[in-house]
Amino acid sequence: MLYDILKPWLFALDAERVHEEVSGLMALAACVPGASGALSLLTGPSGKGLEKTVFGITFQNPVGLAAGFDKDGRLVPLLPGLGFGFLEIGSVTLEPQPGNPKPRLFRLVEQGAILNRLGFNSAGARAVALRLSSSPRPSVPLGINLGLNKGVPAEGAPKAYAQTFRLLAKYGNYFVINVSSPNTPGLRDLQKATELAAILNAVQDSNAGRKPILVKLSPDLADDDLSACVDVAGKVAQGFVVSNTTMSRKGLPDRYISEAGGLSGLPLKARATELVRKVRSLTKLPIIGVGGIATAADARERLDAGADLVQLYTGFVYGGPGSIKRITRGLAGRR
Ligand SMILES: Cc1cc2nc3c(=O)[nH]c(=O)nc-3n(C[C@H](O)[C@H](O)[C@H](O)COP(=O)(O)O)c2cc1C
Repeated sequence: MLYDILKPWLFALDAERVHEEVSGLMALAACVPGASGALSLLTGPSGKGLEKTVFGITFQNPVGLAAGFDKDGRLVPLLPGLGFGFLEIGSVTLEPQPGNPKPRLFRLVEQGAILNRLGFNSAGARAVALRLSSSPRPSVPLGINLGLNKGVPAEGAPKAYAQTFRLLAKYGNYFVINVSSPNTPGLRDLQKATELAAILNAVQDSNAGRKPILVKLSPDLADDDLSACVDVAGKVAQGFVVSNTTMSRKGLPDRYISEAGGLSGLPLKARATELVRKVRSLTKLPIIGVGGIATAADARERLDAGADLVQLYTGFVYGGPGSIKRITRGLAGRR
């Protein structure tokens, strides 16, 4: 209810500024022992009986936070209080980098969407590792999403991803190779079979702890490229995150058509669900479904399409701090 009152005021301000200020407050709260428990009391009960085990990890519920909201892992101690069954931080790049020039984050309120061209603003793998090493172990499984610094050529990508993985390996329960962000020039070309195989092999060579390695796919992949990608990843990886933001501007007003960046939220929903169905028809490996999920019905539809777990970012921004527990309660009520 409080979020409904604050939302018009928050949404009148610049989207990135609000994100930074709210994250800053949350990061302060994250340092207070017991803050996650207090947040949990404020946001009410979670859905019960949703526990499941996927790639050897037990999740209290299948609803997670998608990559990009907590890029540097500042909020890990606090966010479980909102009812998330797991968190995915990142994308983390090997070296720190500022990302693209601002403005680079826009709310499309009428469309229930976000357009972003952040371009992997990241504190870098060493800083994130240091933060995670000095925080208590998270109370829910933690995924770490790995990105690539701008300007690293395709030949350098396997080494860069493997180095980033090694720095963070002991802190994550699973890892995601992000080769699908539209905001780093050339990155999505790494979804091609040869390039992807080289990256996955390099990461797996460093994966002594046998952590699950997932590949995050673009919703804009053509069918043939998708099959080739799933085929390669099926041999060397343990699952997929489906999907990243889209370059499609279908159905958007003219003023957004030439705006650069990746689109998320409701306009992505149908395509992301379709892609989960396609990937499920190609592989038995676990799938995390993400894109346009905002309600329990959306989450159920994605699970029915073949996802084992789901995540959200945009639906969380629009739905507020109570949205995750509304979804888990809705999922539990339908069982
Ligand atoms: C502002 C913003 C930043 C994002 N940053 C990342 C990122 O760093 N790495 C990544 O893999 N995905 C990133 N994403 C994509 C989300 O993880 C997710 O795949 C996408 O937004 C679709 O889900 P949604 O419709 O629930 O937002 C970002 C999304 C948004 C809106």
